[in-house]
Amino acid sequence: MSPSAVEIQARTLAGYADASRLRQVQDRDWVLDRVTGSPETLIDLGSGIGQLLESALERFPSLRLAVGLERSEHRIAEAGRRLAPYGERAELHRADLIAPEPLPHRAQVITQTSVLHWLYPVEDRVFAWVAAHLAPGGRFLLTTYHPARDAHGLGGEDELVREALAALGTPAADVPALLAAHGVLPIATRTRTVDDLLTVLAPYLEVAGHAERDAVVTVESAEQYEHFHAATFGDYYAQVLPGERRADFYRAVGAAAWRRQSERGHVSHMPVRRWELTAREEFVSGSGTGPLPA
Ligand SMILES: C[S@@+](CC[C@H](N)C(=O)[O-])C[C@H]1O[C@@H](n2cnc3c(N)ncnc32)[C@H](O)[C@@H]1O
Repeated sequence: MSPSAVEIQARTLAGYADASRLRQVQDRDWVLDRVTGSPETLIDLGSGIGQLLESALERFPSLRLAVGLERSEHRIAEAGRRLAPYGERAELHRADLIAPEPLPHRAQVITQTSVLHWLYPVEDRVFAWVAAHLAPGGRFLLTTYHPARDAHGLGGEDELVREALAALGTPAADVPALLAAHGVLPIATRTRTVDDLLTVLAPYLEVAGHAERDAVVTVESAEQYEHFHAATFGDYYAQVLPGERRADFYRAVGAAAWRRQSERGHVSHMPVRRWELTAREEFVSGSGTGPLPA
């Protein structure tokens, strides 16, 4: 059986420009609003389809270089098309932030929006990288999501997935074990608490400020959420089902979201934190790379 359109979308993470309007897009200006002065270099970690880089290049004419690091080749290709008009001011690198390679730049601004949970449990590596790549006085502007979690570590998108799997015949109580059996860590486990994050970042970075907002997701149809899920989470959850059941799974996630929308007036909401971080002194002085994670 050939894959459905939504399965192909999940494999290639396509349709993100549309899907991200539901949640992630708001982080972009929220973060860029905190950029001060006239930055010359900005690095975006997990740059997706290049939307933040494009906004930054438009908003800050002082930027001589806006660099994106991203793992997905499909997303890099889409970002390349979006950023082509900026010529040499934009640079994209395929990179795995779980083991980030050094870059020959120090940036006044480093950004990372809606990405950190994918780096769990080794977020310390990217924090060390950032500290080593911030110019003196530079800021790391980061957003992190904090859904409430249950005793199994499930919350946020995991709950919709649990409802969808239950609708397809897996008892809701068996879902944590099904995810674990496929090595799928619940997103609400990946998204550490603020206190946990403070502990992980402390050897490398200092908090200069923060703000919180409530990210409320609403949809106009089940199909809209089905595509949001596929574009955002790809086949991360769908992999727990055999290939022939995945199209049903995406449909069931959309149906679960639409049911919530009808009952509650929204699909989900969760606190998002915007962090403003600076490198610890030992990194800024260039006296070495500072403590590196094991
Ligand atoms: C939810 S999207 C956010 C994209 C963009 N920052 C935004 O705010 O719209 C998460 C992005 O992180 C990327 N990503 C996830 N894990 C990664 C890793 N280990 N290394 C590099 N990029 C990664 C994904 O490919 C995806 O583009």
